[in-house]
Amino acid sequence: MLNGAFGTTRSNSLMNEYASLLGDAVLRHRARIAEQSARIEAELASKVKSEFIANMSHELRTPLNTVIGFSKLLAEHERRKLPDTEIVEYAQLINDAAAHLLAVINDILDISKIQSGRYTLDAREMNIDEILQSVIASFRAAADEAGVKIHSRMAIDLPPIRGDAVKFRQIFTNLLSNAVKFTRANGSITVEALRGSDGSVTVLVRDTGIGMGDDEILVALTPFGQVDGSRARWREGTGLGLPIAKALVELHGGRLEIRSARGMGTEIAVILPSRYAVSAAETNDSYLHHDQDATNATI
Ligand SMILES: Nc1ncnc2c1ncn2[C@@H]1O[C@H](COP(=O)(O)OP(=O)(O)OP(=O)(O)O)[C@@H](O)[C@H]1O
Ligand SMILES: [Mg+2]
Repeated sequence: MLNGAFGTTRSNSLMNEYASLLGDAVLRHRARIAEQSARIEAELASKVKSEFIANMSHELRTPLNTVIGFSKLLAEHERRKLPDTEIVEYAQLINDAAAHLLAVINDILDISKIQSGRYTLDAREMNIDEILQSVIASFRAAADEAGVKIHSRMAIDLPPIRGDAVKFRQIFTNLLSNAVKFTRANGSITVEALRGSDGSVTVLVRDTGIGMGDDEILVALTPFGQVDGSRARWREGTGLGLPIAKALVELHGGRLEIRSARGMGTEIAVILPSRYAVSAAETNDSYLHHDQDATNATI
């Protein structure tokens, strides 16, 4: 009896000791993993930061050089005896460069606001087809110049959805701008809006352009990520349009999906919940919190 009790006490204490050793080992292992992932995150952040600085200096310097160079020429127009047509052309170049600069700065401010979870939506009921038609119209001239046709197909029974119209313009402007940029002459773009049986709306932006492989899609969704250096130089940009579009769709409780293959074109699906789903979500703090986490996780 005594022996048995002693034996049980001893085996209990061995078990306790073993449990505490195991616990320590697990804690040490977790600490090592946390340390490792913090290091990887820091390395990644530093890589993204250097790429960002390299990208930014190009993106900011190019238009600034245009502004400085051509405004100097304008200031000297009398001495240089510039004809009126040239004066107008230089003023237009300065205007374009300044507008581009403003767009880049706005994108940087947007992405940092979204990442810090301080982005607010002004959600109202709106017609997505009106927004799509006006964004398509704004790209007609650029598409014509690139030799690319834009087709649109809107379901006649599209339900109104709830969302921030300005942000929706931004989402589809970013997607259309990519479709035009990455599609060669004689290619085409189709914008389609469909109604889901649950009152959701799906917008598809499809192009017959250069496409992306699976790992390239991951790069494209990373802020400042451009698929490959030579292609990025071929078509200028900052690498912010797509991550911003995805984050804005997610802030509305929707999803952005990319289907693409190299040389086979790209299809981007924006799936928006029914207006009831979004309005219910807006009054729900936990949804907003969850959503911001999700957004932070994806950009
Ligand atoms: N429709 C598309 N077809 C092929 N590649 C695409 C397409 N859309 C995006 N990409 C790739 O993804 C990258 C990131 O796109 P994103 O819109 O974020 O940046 P960007 O267009 O280069 O610059 P910007 O900040 O001016 O939009 C692009 O540089 C391109 O390599
Ligand atoms: Mg873009």
